[in-house]
Amino acid sequence: MRDVKTFYIRTYGCQMNELDTEIMVGTLENRGLVRTADESVADLIILNTCSIRDLAERKALGKLGRLGKIKQNRPLIGVTGCMANAKKESLFQKVDSIDFVLGTNNIHDLNAVLDEVLITGKQSIKVDNRFEHELDYTIAKRDDPVKAHVSIIRGCDKFCTYCVVPYTRGPESSRHPDSIVEECQKLADKGYKELMLLGQNVNSYGKDKPEWGCLFHDLLYRLDKISGIQRIRFMTSHPVDITQSLMEAIRDLPSMCEFVHFPIQSGSDRILRKMHRLYTKQEYLEKVALLRHIVPEVSLGTDIIVGFPTETDEEFEETYQLLKEIEYSTAFLYSYSARKGTPAMRWKDDISEEVKKERLEKLMALQDEIYAKQRNTFLGKEVEVLVEEQNFRDDNLLKGRTRCWKNVLFPGDASLIGTLQKIRIHSFSNQTLIGEQIATPSSLALTAAL
Ligand code: SAH
Ligand code: SF4
Ligand code: F3S
Repeated sequence: MRDVKTFYIRTYGCQMNELDTEIMVGTLENRGLVRTADESVADLIILNTCSIRDLAERKALGKLGRLGKIKQNRPLIGVTGCMANAKKESLFQKVDSIDFVLGTNNIHDLNAVLDEVLITGKQSIKVDNRFEHELDYTIAKRDDPVKAHVSIIRGCDKFCTYCVVPYTRGPESSRHPDSIVEECQKLADKGYKELMLLGQNVNSYGKDKPEWGCLFHDLLYRLDKISGIQRIRFMTSHPVDITQSLMEAIRDLPSMCEFVHFPIQSGSDRILRKMHRLYTKQEYLEKVALLRHIVPEVSLGTDIIVGFPTETDEEFEETYQLLKEIEYSTAFLYSYSARKGTPAMRWKDDISEEVKKERLEKLMALQDEIYAKQRNTFLGKEVEVLVEEQNFRDDNLLKGRTRCWKNVLFPGDASLIGTLQKIRIHSFSNQTLIGEQIATPSSLALTAAL
């Protein structure tokens, strides 16, 4: 049997994949393997892949192709994540040196699959269509000592016509609130200060398990009570399911950050209908207005896709105007990428790459203007920063985020990591705000005593 002592793991895609990686790292370390950042010395290489756009798949396939060329002392190679579910057995045909394929709903099978490969020397695959097992999230090995990702619901039932996720992650499956609260309590006990609650659509939380009587906002009230947790965020919320109760929870719960990622995708009703987004522009704008009424200081984030099949110049213009009108504080802008197996594949991908690029650049230029305008409003202002880490380029600088998710740099000592600091912003560099600590009464007393 092969001796596997070290492993290298690379993550593509979203925060859900990052959390799955942390669970796999915990599983492998509990088994006695040692993680290495140098893939050339690893006995086992895992690529935790993403299928959301063609480029994401091409990156991982290119990497697999290069790994497949290693002839001597070849490591074991495992493919996990969304591409495992999207491509299944066909991955073995694409790259024959892959030893195992493990789907997003089979993370708990990692040890069993590895044992099988080591004992039989044969290729192995496990890709279930739905998530049915309770995963032991507490074994996750987190590198970040301040913020923790916490899964609250897996899968997606929305079936937007362009999106692979309902096929790669399966139907929605909420995690029991007691299990979430227990994990978050343990995280607080370990010193974590911020929770990022994860789901493709956190607003659906609990709807698949009415017997629990715990919807998303109910869960937030329970989590807010955990002492030590200073901030709670969530990602992502589908606009159709956002409720007034959730908006009130953001207003009323001290730990809830005033930032909502609330992807619109397009500003045209015809395109929204074709995307199966389940809301009109007007309905979306009404929700934004209500949210801003209930939580006046809220910042909004969005995702937008340009060049969806048949999108006209006028329809793109509607998206442009909407971006201008709403003034999001974060916007992820994408070109449409046709995905095999999705309903949108029945329409020709008829917007040329050139036009997609043009539209994307136009939106980016607009969003840059919006960022510039917003940055200026921070100058001279005081913000609350949760200090996350030392700046990787200059360790005299600390990096953290405001409650509304803006990056902030300021000079300070590493002992401040994990604390909340008041920072006065004096300048910025690109999207990052730069400032100085404001002397607090306790720090003034300390200075006076010195
Ligand atoms: N569940 C989240 C989004 C997850 S995917 C939500 O509904 O908001 C993240 C983003 O990728 C999507 O919001 C969408 O903007 C983008 N995306 C998904 N499929 C895509 C595709 N086929 N082409 C281009 N962008 C896509
Ligand atoms: Fe994809 Fe839509 Fe589900 Fe988001 S809500 S994961 S875009 S299908
Ligand atoms: Fe990618 Fe899967 Fe996330 S497709 S974006 S890794 S849910």
